[in-house]
Amino acid sequence: MEVLEAQQGTYQLEDYEKMRESFDWEQTKEAFSWHRTGKVNIAYETIDRHVDEGRGNKTALLYSDAKREERYTFQDMKDKTNQAAHMFKEMGVEKGERIFIFMPRSPELYFVLLGAIKVGAVVGPLFEAFMQDAVRARLEDSEATTIVTTPDLVSRIPHDDLPALKRIIVAGEQDLPAGDIFISLDEKMKAASTDDSALEWVDLEDGFILHYTSGSTGKPKGVYHVHHAMLQHYQTAKWVLDLREDDVYWCTADPGWVTGTSYGIFGPWLNGATNVVRGGRFSPDDWYGTIDKYNVTVWYSAPTAFRMLMAAPKETLDKHDLSSLRHILSVGEPLNPEVVRWGWDVFQHRIHDTWWMTETGAMLICNYPSEPIKPGSMGRPIPGVDAAIIDDHGNELPPNEMGNLAIKAGWPSQMRKIWNNEPKFNEYFAIEGWYVSGDTAYRDEDGYFWFQGRNDDVIMTAGERVGPFEIESKLVEHPSVAEAGVIGKPDEIRGHIIKAFIALRSGEEESDELKEEIRKFIKTELAAHAVPREIEFKDKLPKTRSGKIMRRVLKAWELDEPTGDLSTMDDN
Ligand code: WTA
Repeated sequence: MEVLEAQQGTYQLEDYEKMRESFDWEQTKEAFSWHRTGKVNIAYETIDRHVDEGRGNKTALLYSDAKREERYTFQDMKDKTNQAAHMFKEMGVEKGERIFIFMPRSPELYFVLLGAIKVGAVVGPLFEAFMQDAVRARLEDSEATTIVTTPDLVSRIPHDDLPALKRIIVAGEQDLPAGDIFISLDEKMKAASTDDSALEWVDLEDGFILHYTSGSTGKPKGVYHVHHAMLQHYQTAKWVLDLREDDVYWCTADPGWVTGTSYGIFGPWLNGATNVVRGGRFSPDDWYGTIDKYNVTVWYSAPTAFRMLMAAPKETLDKHDLSSLRHILSVGEPLNPEVVRWGWDVFQHRIHDTWWMTETGAMLICNYPSEPIKPGSMGRPIPGVDAAIIDDHGNELPPNEMGNLAIKAGWPSQMRKIWNNEPKFNEYFAIEGWYVSGDTAYRDEDGYFWFQGRNDDVIMTAGERVGPFEIESKLVEHPSVAEAGVIGKPDEIRGHIIKAFIALRSGEEESDELKEEIRKFIKTELAAHAVPREIEFKDKLPKTRSGKIMRRVLKAWELDEPTGDLSTMDDN
């Protein structure tokens, strides 16, 4: 068994075993102000606390994209987020209201997201690639009252049929579309006060964020998190990211996904680190350039990105000085041992895998800088959290046996509900005392967990989580498509790609042009990242007698594997 030894050095988590024995979450509370007030606000703790404790002049945000390059101190961030908070308050936004944020990365995204949380609202980040139907589904389900967006994206917000939606706030200098519903972000921000008075103190169990994510059946679900989560954002960013105040930290995830909020906003800033945000698209030259330019010390990214960097020409790597890096981490998909070895070769650092989910709110199973790494393993549970492999009845399985990866229920950043969908929420906790993740894994004799796969049909493609159902539903809206089944097909770089099996309506001709047209249909109506890279036409699709497409059979076809029990299949 390959083991990479613990790193020499001093780390925030010095002795894993000892901390597992002695730690409880009450200790973390002392870092924050509610210890004094009994009330909290995660946005205050993230930004304002640093100003109140004398760190106002420290750089909080280093933002850049192809056009802009800006730097904000904690004092600047406090002023800007206060202005956003006043803007929302003056519009009459009330505690608990859902405010959606639908914009590409920019400093303004961070101002409005934190400003909304300051007034006690629940923010809903939406990935910029979503098209009209995806936007509608999320706004409808959450009954959002407000959405903040940019001129490029505003036409994708279908406000006529969303009765709850009262305000569309548009950033940028362009003229607003006609209608009372449209408001200029720049004007309102300029006019707003920077004082503290818009800040609402709330309870630990009050909500602050709603992240929509995909399952294998049904519509996207709104995963609801409460201010309490900050304990775990703070503590894991300390232990696992090993963040200190002098770190320059870069999380490559977009805030439309949970990694981009928990560890692109809260984890680093709760610890007072300098946070790098790079807008625009991925390119190896740009990414290495970002590390070089800002002297990034701690870097949190994903296996697909590492694999794409691996495939880039060596000259791209050699052009840049990456010696500032001291700690590298990964999340979202299985991290191949090969990638860990590559990281060791090119950066002289071990890449540390971390495991968690939108529903878990923060990291749960991780590798630590002070501990040995087994390449291919996700690591061990953080102190304060218990994980196990259980069978379908809740019995814990012995080492090296594969089963359901489950977490002892009740950690601070655990989701508190699925918006409007209690049955869905309860499914995760159907086995008394446990949260069942939907991943299969095993645990070895040393307590390290090894990921084996999803036991549902959720597709992880290029680190993004995509539900087959939403794509299938859209596909069958295309006039040529009769039936569609969508699966993840293993792919060397992206982990999985999206593959659609399609049965055409009678009279329709199979052609490459039609495949292209169907792809374009998904891209313009749903989202670019949901487009099936591969489409295969079939005369008919395998279905159960109740008419459900059997994705399991599609997967077996794809992988040339036995199709298993077909007794429920409809053979007409
Ligand atoms: C997968 C992302 C293997 C897993 C933070 C999980 C991983 C899903 C790892 C959640 C890992 C996450 N190794 N697989 N280290 N981390 N996953 O909600 O299948 O977008 O259930 O959260 O990603 O995806 P989500």
